[in-house]
Amino acid sequence: MVWENDEKFGLQRLLGVNSSVIRRVKDMSQLDNFNVDENEIRWLLQGLTLKEAIDARKLFIVDHAILDKCPKNPKITLCSPIALFFREEDKIMPIAIQLFQGRSDDNPVFFPTDDKYTWILAKMWFNNADAQIHQAISHFGFFKLLAPHLMAINNIGLKFLYLIAKHKDTWRLNVEGCLPPDIVDRGVEPTDVPFYPFRDDAQLTYQAIEEYVDSYRYPRYRPGGTTWIGLHPMADLESKVFQENREASKKRDELALVLKCIIYTCSVGHAAVNFKQYDEYALTLIGHPPKDKRERDLKEDAIPTIQPINKLLTLMGLTKVLSTRATNALGNFEVNYIHDPAAVELVEQFQKNLENTRKEIEKRNKTRSAERAYPFLNPAEIPNAISI
Ligand SMILES: [Fe+2]
Repeated sequence: MVWENDEKFGLQRLLGVNSSVIRRVKDMSQLDNFNVDENEIRWLLQGLTLKEAIDARKLFIVDHAILDKCPKNPKITLCSPIALFFREEDKIMPIAIQLFQGRSDDNPVFFPTDDKYTWILAKMWFNNADAQIHQAISHFGFFKLLAPHLMAINNIGLKFLYLIAKHKDTWRLNVEGCLPPDIVDRGVEPTDVPFYPFRDDAQLTYQAIEEYVDSYRYPRYRPGGTTWIGLHPMADLESKVFQENREASKKRDELALVLKCIIYTCSVGHAAVNFKQYDEYALTLIGHPPKDKRERDLKEDAIPTIQPINKLLTLMGLTKVLSTRATNALGNFEVNYIHDPAAVELVEQFQKNLENTRKEIEKRNKTRSAERAYPFLNPAEIPNAISI
């Protein structure tokens, strides 16, 4: 079964609905809240100490500290978990889960070697909290920037306002809102995480968006031709001003970056967090997470933690609606605002680049095993805009 499979749990961090949260541990201080005994965990680190695993760039973390002390419905238990992962070749394997922040006796660290259903329950409660992060931050967390563009979905976004408000002070458009610096900031470059389809597929479309924005924004001389921007009587003057004024040029670069980030976030970024919801939101939990390591039973302990079937059907219906596409594929604009023939060429080039990306991603998915396939960032499946 999937919920017994640790590799699948690790894969969810790399191609799941919330696949841009995992970070490489760069410093022991990131483990300050983690009540882990070095000796207990050592064999899971292939004999390395925590410090050695960090130095070998093999230790990864998802820390949902932001959920700590979050106001919530008193009938619902919401964990604020920390999970540690260890890279084995191209797999990210979970090695320890602590369900709440801080060190205390009733907040144990669970390991894959614990009782089977206790470990499964730890993973389920982790994912339950991860789902709150996904909805409140990954999915609706760009509220501040994108509120005018979220349209009907606003009201759902508003429910998560507390977390969004908490998150907005640390979220940066030029890091979390922009793929290349986010990958570096989280320490998940290809050398450290070889198999990361979200990163690799998103990168191709990000490059197409980058080229599109740059070509549209910057004068570009083509062999034997004019620049499209050069068609405008002011364009040559504008170009000269930018060349001579470093400050103006910097501002133009910043504007271009903002445009790339917005287009990326509204298309690729949203597609990555939105269209897998039906696949991944199988259940929500009730009751309480494990606080000790006693032996547990499937029927007595695991199944009663899952919401009753009528609630699950409602969830399935909601995620099915949320996973539908309501606008055209990226580059195939609903309304054409660009009519200048030379500028239309740039749109056509953008479409060609996206078509090449489509072919490349389809090729990649043919080489990926069924459970490692990731069709969600095929440009043909990425809508132009956030609409749901
Ligand atoms: Fe959405």
